[in-house]
Amino acid sequence: MRKIFLVLNVCFLFAGCHLNSTAVIEPRASAEPLQVNLVPKPVRVELLPGSFRIEPDMVVYVQSSDGADLETAQLLAERLNSSTGFRVTEIRSTNGEEMDGINLKRVDDDALGEEGYRLSVTKTRVVIEANGSAGLFYGTQTLRQMLPLAFESASLQFVPMEGWQIRCAVIEDVPRFEWRGMLLDCGRHFMDKEFVKRYIDLLAMHKMNRLHWHLTEDQGWRIEIKKYPKLTEIGGWRTYQDGTVYGGYYSQEDVREVVAYAKKRFVMVVPEIELPGHSVAALAAYPEYSCTGGPFEVETKWGVHKDVYCAGNEATFTFLQDILTETCELFDSPYIHIGGDECPKDRWHDCSKCQARIKAEGLKDEHELQSYFIQRIEKFLQTKNKSIIGWDEILEGGLAQNATVQSWRGMGGAIEAVNSGHDAIVSPTSHAYFDYDISTTDLRKVYTFEPVPDGIANDKVKHILGGECNMWTERAPQDTIDSKVFPRILAMAEVLWSDKQGRSYEEFYQRVRGHYDRLDEIGVKYGPESRPVTIHAKLDAKAKEFEVAMESGEEGLELRYTFDGSEPGKNSDVYTGPITINRTSTFKAQAFRGGKVYGGMESKEFIVHKATGKDVKLTNKYHQSYKGTGDMSVVDGIRGTDNFKDGFWQGYDGVDVEAVIDLGRVTKINSVKAGFMQNISTWIFLPKQVVVSVSQDGSTFSEVAALEHETTSKAGKVYVKDFEAAVNGAKGRYVKLFAEGVKICPAWHPGAGNKCWLFIDEIVVE
Ligand code: ACM
Ligand code: ZN
Repeated sequence: MRKIFLVLNVCFLFAGCHLNSTAVIEPRASAEPLQVNLVPKPVRVELLPGSFRIEPDMVVYVQSSDGADLETAQLLAERLNSSTGFRVTEIRSTNGEEMDGINLKRVDDDALGEEGYRLSVTKTRVVIEANGSAGLFYGTQTLRQMLPLAFESASLQFVPMEGWQIRCAVIEDVPRFEWRGMLLDCGRHFMDKEFVKRYIDLLAMHKMNRLHWHLTEDQGWRIEIKKYPKLTEIGGWRTYQDGTVYGGYYSQEDVREVVAYAKKRFVMVVPEIELPGHSVAALAAYPEYSCTGGPFEVETKWGVHKDVYCAGNEATFTFLQDILTETCELFDSPYIHIGGDECPKDRWHDCSKCQARIKAEGLKDEHELQSYFIQRIEKFLQTKNKSIIGWDEILEGGLAQNATVQSWRGMGGAIEAVNSGHDAIVSPTSHAYFDYDISTTDLRKVYTFEPVPDGIANDKVKHILGGECNMWTERAPQDTIDSKVFPRILAMAEVLWSDKQGRSYEEFYQRVRGHYDRLDEIGVKYGPESRPVTIHAKLDAKAKEFEVAMESGEEGLELRYTFDGSEPGKNSDVYTGPITINRTSTFKAQAFRGGKVYGGMESKEFIVHKATGKDVKLTNKYHQSYKGTGDMSVVDGIRGTDNFKDGFWQGYDGVDVEAVIDLGRVTKINSVKAGFMQNISTWIFLPKQVVVSVSQDGSTFSEVAALEHETTSKAGKVYVKDFEAAVNGAKGRYVKLFAEGVKICPAWHPGAGNKCWLFIDEIVVE
């Protein structure tokens, strides 16, 4: 960007400018190229020669008497004025004639549908045509992305007059899906009201039109309910062991302000009031609506919690109906999201009231009790003219009549829902969970998302309303949200808005790169597009060497590395091609952009030991989804990281690990060490016991070491533990390692009774 300095004796050009005329101001570049970098991509863009220049006294004409059209014009004019210092005004025209300036014009054109628009920019006029106010609004959002970057600044920007130009073009555009949403979890982490409004702006700018506002959680109740003040007084705050209190809530006035703000930007705010599960914060305030009576504290731990609303107690329904009554009055959305996911049935199983309900209603089990719960809430909400949306668990035990299903555990829920004539919204963990790390769900992955699943009939496609990206916030306080949502939401916006035909990631990616300048201007702290650097490694068993390659996740990155354990810096070796390592080493890699560290460091440990590359026989088969590097993974000399999906961990589902290694000849063995992982929230447990035996002939083994381990309910964090057995010079050709897995999740675990995992990366024989 070229920068020039001007002495501002031309202040008269900028109506409304009160600066001292001698001030020296750094103006914006005068000749930013008139790029057209639109995200999401319109159906048709034809760029034409020439440009339209915004004049200080320009008028935005609104040719209908619809208040929403006028508001759209006001938003555009106010924004133009605040960044240009001009006095653009908006007026209502009476005769429908097109004028010089900007025109918002209603038409009757079936091709444009409810939200489509046609935008024509000539040297003298901008004309946005649409059937309704939503289309006019989206036309202005496209225009916004065609304006100079200085438009995005909230404060006065000095751009020489010729800078305020818009490229001549004709654009026609209609969305593919009507539901283009983002879930923001303000339960786990509270986001302040201004931040929520900022996100509404960002959604609207990218033609997204639903904010799914997750307002209640085990860890916090965020919406004021007048009839039950303790919901926010108690339920809005959680206290950590060290006494730290965390929380916050939205008053009803705040909620009304957010909803009104969103309405002007054509964003429907859909509140989620979770039931029957994820309700510990509410029960901390009103324990009488639980099965046990409590007491409870607002949860500080993430995960799925067993205390849920009692389905056998009539008063629970009165309580929830009162809450929903106030909620319905605050939101103009025709939908209320009632959650319905992850509701453990333990308390209902043990509760006499819940069991009496099951009997009285002739229900088969607790799953049907959940269905009864949801259907009862649905019937109540129908009396308020609201429909329910629920997570795909609401399919279990029978679906409520008019429910819309939000499919998150893959696309199966959506398929089942639409095949039975229900509407569905898709947000599968595979593509739409923006709390997931970029290494699992990168920009390309989101861009390849197809919301219409295979396996549904053509006449059912209309029931796929659209999709959402889900920003859960267990590990994402407010100041990290931008870096998780952006740039991935650009891909989701395009998947949900743009035509599927001719879609190309490479072409999209070029527009994203161009769009960053605008996001920078707005102050969006976007994160990486993909894992900046990935280390690939494989063992050449014959040569006992590792071939190490590095992959860059983005264009224009410089990758540097070390293998002496030191941190790679600006002067470390630059990666130019695969590297061979033939000794025990720690390889570290770091991406740089423009000479600055970019993203996190990656590291990988290589061990050359007595079993490296030797023959190994596995008694039980590892799971196909977690193969490590294949049959030889446990003797490939490559350690796993603390990411169980890094490609170096081998996972066993409900079975033990037994490996017999043939060292080739009788060898003196000093120690045998095996690496295992624990990741309780993903049901991966360390083994209960590790036994090492050796043998000369491969048939008679003698035990040389046994190590015990106990996993308790306090073993919460993710870690890698080496089980190391001193073997003290035992001699043998064969080494057998037996690791007894926990196999079934223990009673204290959310997955109690289900199979759990045993993960191993390497058996090191020294
Ligand atoms: C969900 O992620 N539990 C809907
Ligand atoms: Zn109960």
